[in-house]
Amino acid sequence: MTVFAHLSDLHATPPRWTHPAELTPKRLLGRLSWELRRRHEHRPEVLDALVDDLASTRPDHVAITGDVTNQGLTHELEEGRAWLARLGGPRRVFLVPGNHDVYVRGSRAAVARAWQPYLSSDGDSDADAIPSSDGDSDADAIPGSALDPPVRRVGSLALVGACSVLPTPTGFANGRIGPRGRLRLERTLRRLGAEGCVRVLLLHHPPWLRGISRRRGLDDARALRDVLRRAGAELVLHGHVHRAVFESLPGPAGDVPVVGVASASALGRRGEARRGRYHLLEPLDEGGFALRARVLDPAQGCFVEGEARKLG
Ligand SMILES: [Fe+2]
Repeated sequence: MTVFAHLSDLHATPPRWTHPAELTPKRLLGRLSWELRRRHEHRPEVLDALVDDLASTRPDHVAITGDVTNQGLTHELEEGRAWLARLGGPRRVFLVPGNHDVYVRGSRAAVARAWQPYLSSDGDSDADAIPSSDGDSDADAIPGSALDPPVRRVGSLALVGACSVLPTPTGFANGRIGPRGRLRLERTLRRLGAEGCVRVLLLHHPPWLRGISRRRGLDDARALRDVLRRAGAELVLHGHVHRAVFESLPGPAGDVPVVGVASASALGRRGEARRGRYHLLEPLDEGGFALRARVLDPAQGCFVEGEARKLG
């Protein structure tokens, strides 16, 4: 039996500027938001409790749907790598980046350099590069961006990492997979489906614009849903919205469950729905998944058993 954990939006690394070139208007505003608000919500002690909890729940693999950092700064990528190591190291942790990781022009290449083994199919530093979403400037492109999305295989599971992030202007946190990325994703999903794999699609942004502003949503959400309708997947997991989401989308052989998870580091000062949380997922022989939530108990300062559901 394979059990994997889904966590997201760690925002684990407090931003500080070490070089004038790193100072952009977007980072200035982001820093203000961090100092005034976010640093009180995303707490290292919650992440310490998360690491402890994962040591006791012992999932076979950990899938992270982005936003390990706050501004994708060089020192944040290094500190982020230390957190990723604490969460299990590259052979046990598979990551797709979030908009806070690929924050400005040049971030994609820096993320790829710093976190390559975590982004790759097999947890190897020499393996495939992070796929780019279309719309990046050439300056931001890196070798290997024309590759198919990485696929991490865990037992019968195929975790497919779709990159939905690109550097955005100040005030924007939207994403895009792009036509070439969607084509490569569809080809990959079809191939894995034909192999009989249990396909889990990971991306940072939710695959719709419902309940999210255009400035924060996935530009080509509708086209991505068309890909899923044609090629199918057994499960879609996302982050970005900092709360748990249980939805479904039509696939070629029935509905595909879509699950978002709250930030793994959040104290939940704005309500229980935003409290630190991760999900343990287990594919079932009869199809679908068993989901168990692990939720922060702020009084005890640890994660405890939350709701349980069957998906699909
Ligand atoms: Fe986030």
